[in-house]
Formats: sequence, C-alpha cells, structure tokens
Amino acid sequence: MNPNLKIKLGRISLKNPVLAASGTFGYGEEYSRFIDLNELGGIITKTVTLEPREGNRPPRLAETPSGLLNSIGLENPGLKIFLREKLPLLQRFNTALVVNIAGEKEEEYLRLAERLNRVKGIDALEINISCPNVKNGGLIFGTNPSLVFSLVKRIREVTDIPLITKLTPNVTDITEIAKAAEEAGTEALSLINTLVGMAIDIETRKPKLGNVTGGLSGPAIRPIAVRMVRQTFQKVNLPLIGVGGIMTAVDALEFILAGASAVAIGTANFIDPKTMIKVKEGIGEYLQRNNIREFKDLVGWLNLN
Ligand SMILES: Cc1cc2nc3c(=O)[nH]c(=O)nc-3n(C[C@H](O)[C@H](O)[C@H](O)COP(=O)(O)O)c2cc1C
Repeated sequence: MNPNLKIKLGRISLKNPVLAASGTFGYGEEYSRFIDLNELGGIITKTVTLEPREGNRPPRLAETPSGLLNSIGLENPGLKIFLREKLPLLQRFNTALVVNIAGEKEEEYLRLAERLNRVKGIDALEINISCPNVKNGGLIFGTNPSLVFSLVKRIREVTDIPLITKLTPNVTDITEIAKAAEEAGTEALSLINTLVGMAIDIETRKPKLGNVTGGLSGPAIRPIAVRMVRQTFQKVNLPLIGVGGIMTAVDALEFILAGASAVAIGTANFIDPKTMIKVKEGIGEYLQRNNIREFKDLVGWLNLN
C-alpha cells in the first residue's frame, strides 16, 4: 500500500505536506542544485516587499543552544526584480508556489497583493505579519487582532489568490490573532514565526547581533510551536501549517498529530538541504507502518487517553 500524501489547505492543493519555510530557501535557486524541487509539497518564498530592502546591519546570525538567532530584516530585491528574475525559475517546478509578502503599511500589502493577483502560477500568498526584525510593520500588525482583521480583510478584497496568514508567537494568546485572521477570510494559517531573543558576547560586551535583538528559530522553539498549533487547532476551523524547529520526520509528525495539515521547514535546510525530502519520506513510512492510507486522516490525531 502506497499512502496518499496529498492534502488540501482550503483551495490550495499540495501533493505532499512538506513545504520550504519563508526566508530559509531564498527563491529556490540555490537549493535546486542540491534537491529536486518537484519533490516538495510547496515552496514559500523569502518575503517580498514592494521596494528592495537592504536588511539590517551585520552580524545578522548568531547560534544559540539548539537554536539560531537571526536579524536579517527582510532583505530582498523588491517586487519588480522578484517578478522579472526570481519568479520564472520558481514557475518551472511542479510544486505549490506560495509568495510571502510584507509591508510597512497596509497600502504596501494591498499593492503587492493586487499586483501578484495578475500573475499566473501563484498558488497562495503568505501574509507575513510576524517578522520581529523590522521597525515598521511586522509585529505591529501581528500582535494586534483588530489590525490583523482589517489587513487580511482588505487584502482579501483585492486578490482572488488563496491567503495564508503567518502568525507570530510573540503574543499572550495566539488564538486571538488566529481568530481575527479567520474572520477576515484567510484560507489557512502558518505558525510560528521566530521568537524575539538576544545574545551577548561577554568579552566585547556587545550584542551578538547588529540589530541587538533577533528572531529565534530551530529545535529550541519546537515545543512552543507544537503547543501553539494545538491551541490554534482547538480554536479555529482552518488548515494549519506547522513551523518551528522541524529537523526530522518525527518532529513533523508531532505537529501533524497536534493539528497541522502541513509543515514548513526552515533552519534545518541550512544544516542539510535534503531535510525536506527525508521528512516527506519519513511521513510516508510512518503511514505505511501504521496502515494509514490517507495522510489527511492523521491530522490532529492526538491520543489524550
Ligand atoms: C534566516 C531566517 C530568515 C527568515 N526570513 C523570513 C522571512 O523573510 N519571512 C518569514 O515570514 N519568515 C522568515 N523566517 C522565519 C521562518 O520562516 C520560520 O517561521 C522560523 O524560522 C521557524 O521555523 P524553523 O525553526 O524551521 O526555522 C526566517 C527564518 C530564518 C532562520
């Protein structure tokens, strides 16, 4: 028996539940030399903004126990170059393409969504309202349910492309934000983005990051992410993409049992570019071993007895 790994997130069809997480996979170019991108369930691009962004001052990365702090600051070439130089390669692959967008103001998100609405081959937009490394936008939106509602609703009005809203864990109750995005018409939710953190070099007495604080990712954040997926699964009626510290199929399965319909893999790609392929295969083997024919039947199957 070959298990069926296909899954639908609202109108978004994935051939398997493993996606590349935004910002850790660029626009696919570099990784296409190491793995067959056609094998992936989907690719979520690095955040695209209307205008090019240089990002934050270096250093932008610092390793911590079981984690990585980053303060990239949404460096990207901007929409025009994305459309002209990055998108054509991504469109060649037979995998779902999710374009992650962000702006400093609501207007910027709207203009991005409007412009991308006219582009063929985009399966979904991921609305990034959760970047902790930018002064404007980012967490200002993502931590406020009424701003999330208004932003997602207005984006919904200007595009037909399915929407995924990416949530921040830097809040007291993530389900409040999730509910606001649901009411505004998002098709799915991604969670979580990074947790705000800080590390100090005691010899120089300087912060290890040029931006002082950064976003923590990697296995250190996984139990928090799994908990947030579970809480959100219980409160909203939307498909969830679980993100945060997934290194192996076992890790991905934790998210799926907690209620994620798909997973996205970020930091692990820096260690082993084949992680996503291995995770996909491992999920298939688990289904086979447990005689489960349909991947979708596993979603949320947490045994609390
Ligand atoms: C270097 C780096 C850059 C990132 N850039 C983005 C980004 O541009 N947009 C975004 O929505 N998330 C971004 N993220 C967050 C990841 O997509 C993901 O939510 C987070 O890292 C947790 O997953 P992980 O532990 O598997 O990396 C970035 C993460 C890292 C480590």
